[in-house]
Amino acid sequence: MSSQVSYERVRESLERLKMEAALVELDDVLERGGREEKSAVEILDDLLEREQRDRFERRVKTNFKLSGLPLVKRLEEFDFEAQPQVPKRTVEELATLRFLHQGENVLFLGPCGVGKTHIGVGLAVKALENGHRVYFLTLHDLVTKARTAREKNKLHVLERVIHRSDLFVLDELGFLPLAAEDATFLFEVINKRYHCQKSTIVTSNKSFGQWGEIFPDSVLATALLDRLLHHGITINIRGESYRLKNRREAGITLS
Ligand SMILES: Nc1ncnc2c1ncn2[C@@H]1O[C@H](COP(=O)(O)OP(=O)(O)OP(=O)(O)O)[C@@H](O)[C@H]1O
Ligand SMILES: [Mg+2]
Repeated sequence: MSSQVSYERVRESLERLKMEAALVELDDVLERGGREEKSAVEILDDLLEREQRDRFERRVKTNFKLSGLPLVKRLEEFDFEAQPQVPKRTVEELATLRFLHQGENVLFLGPCGVGKTHIGVGLAVKALENGHRVYFLTLHDLVTKARTAREKNKLHVLERVIHRSDLFVLDELGFLPLAAEDATFLFEVINKRYHCQKSTIVTSNKSFGQWGEIFPDSVLATALLDRLLHHGITINIRGESYRLKNRREAGITLS
C-alpha cells in the first residue's frame, strides 16, 4: 500500500474514531517526526498525547460549565496574612486534592466574610483543573432545586446530579432553617456520598452546636454531622470580615 493511501486511511480512521485533535495535528506531528527523525512509536506517542491533552482540556471546560460555580476564586488570590486564623499549611495540603481521592470532607465554619466560600471555591477550582467533576450549590439553591424537582417528581434526577460529582460544595449552611422534607433530602444526599466515600465541602456561619437550629430535628442534625465528620476536617475561622476590613481601611464604616 502506498504511503499516500495509508495517510488517507489514517485520516479517515481518526475522523471515524472522533479523534479530532489528532486529525487536526496529524500533518504537524508527521512533519515534525520526519524533521526530528523520530521513530514510528515516538510519532504515535506524540499524536496520542495531543489527542489526550485536547480531550482533557475539553472535559475541564465542560466540567467548569456544569459545576454551577458562581464565580472563580483561586487559592492563590487568598491573602493568608490578612486572615491568620486560616491554617495555610492545611489549605496547601487540601490543595493537593488528597482529601478528594480519600473521600474526605472539609467543613469551613466562621462568621461572615472571613473567606469560607473563597477557599471552598478555590479548592473546587483546583479539583476542576485536575479533571474532576464538581457540583456547587448554596443551601438556598439546593432547597429551591429540590422543591422544583419534587413538584415534577424528579427529585432522583437532582440526587443523581449531586451524587455524580467527585466534589460537592454546599455553601451557606445556616442562613436559613430547613423544612423537614428538605432536611431529609439533604441528609439522604450526604449519607449516600458518605457511603460511597465521596467528598463534600460545607461552609457554615453556624457552629456545630447551632446546627440543631437549622434542622427541624436535632437527631437528623447529629446524624448528618456524624457522617460529615467521620472522614472530615473542620477549619474554624474566627477573624474579622475581609469585606468589612477592606471597607474600614478605606475609611468607610457602616454607621
Ligand atoms: N484572606 C483573604 N484574602 C483575599 N480575599 C479574601 C480574603 N478573605 C475574604 N476575601 C474576599 O472577601 C469576600 C468575602 O469572602 P467570602 O465570600 O469567602 O466570605 P464567607 O466567609 O464565605 O462569608 P459569608 O458567610 O458571608 O458567605 C470575597 O470576595 C473573598 O474573595
Ligand atoms: Mg460564603
